Amino acid sequence: MSHSPQISYPNSVKIVEVGPRDGLQNESQTIALADKLQLIANLTDAGVQHVEAGSFVSPKWVPQMADSSSVFAQLPRKAGVTYSALTPNIKGLEAALAVNVDEVAIFGAASESFSQKNINCSIAESLKRFKPLMAMAQRHGIRVRGYVSCVLGCPYEGDISPTKVAQVSKALFDMGCYEISLGDTIGVGTPLKTQQLIETVRQALPTSKLAVHFHDTYGQALANILMALQHGIRVIDSAVAGLGGCPYAKGASGNIATEDVVYMLHGMGIETGIDLTKLIKAGKNIMTTLGRESHSKVAGALLTE
Ligand code: HMG
Ligand code: MG
Repeated sequence: MSHSPQISYPNSVKIVEVGPRDGLQNESQTIALADKLQLIANLTDAGVQHVEAGSFVSPKWVPQMADSSSVFAQLPRKAGVTYSALTPNIKGLEAALAVNVDEVAIFGAASESFSQKNINCSIAESLKRFKPLMAMAQRHGIRVRGYVSCVLGCPYEGDISPTKVAQVSKALFDMGCYEISLGDTIGVGTPLKTQQLIETVRQALPTSKLAVHFHDTYGQALANILMALQHGIRVIDSAVAGLGGCPYAKGASGNIATEDVVYMLHGMGIETGIDLTKLIKAGKNIMTTLGRESHSKVAGALLTE
């Protein structure tokens, strides 16, 4: 579909819903297993086709994800939906395989300090650690997604060079990740920086292998997503109700709300396969459980209509 001589947008975009993982991992209150399962069921009922449903990390580091094995064991799996999880090491992958996770993700960073704080090792060490994990996942026929954190700034180091992001992205891609999700972990990016980032990273790997993952701390995420779309990105990570944050990135607020992304895309004539009304209900339900207001502007507007 073409809207102007210069800019063309796709007919459809894939949404990777990360609320049950990126969203809930940062909650201080304990969330009942039944509430997690209900959230995931509500999301897939709304048409979400990829849900990051948990994380096989150290329960000492991220207590909120400690019941991920139970989440996957009890998921009401819907045909055609991919249920994925984060796995930082072999131990995590073994736990994920034991409960039939469809797909896993490894997560590195473009910032040394963030890598240390988040996964307790250097960038080089993390890449070394991911190799046997990748080999094991391939033996089991499991696809592996790769995350790169701090692509537009780091809570400890400030500015991050797009070249560094490109290097880490390429290392993960060359290792066998089928897609690289570029994470603006602390939501500091602005549109022209997003453009520069994508232009740099796509010299190292094809744009069709990239996804974007914006936290909305500074309210820039939708503008950045629009810029990413204009530069050929077709996969967007988001969290229902704008849930979330990263426990190892102080001040990082939630991901951009899926409702707001879907409203923008549908308004541009871009399909997502998601029913916005049902998605808003899924968001309202989890926020009622958490006892907080949604971060989604669209949910706020449509629920008061
Ligand atoms: P470590 O302490 O260096 O690891 O942590 P270790 O191998 O020395 O093990 C220490 C303990 O952890 C041992 O237990 C292990 O058994 C256990 P102990 O003997 O002390 O009782 N352990 C595990 N337990 C369960 N599952 C595992 C596992 N591995 C070790 N897989 C480690 C290294 C990577 C494990 C740790 O640093 C960790 O779990 N980090 C996870 C941090 C995290 O989950 N952060 C949030 C996700 S990333 C994110 O949000 C960013 C993203 O959204 C993109 C963006 O926004 O930019 C993806
Ligand atoms: Mg994140």
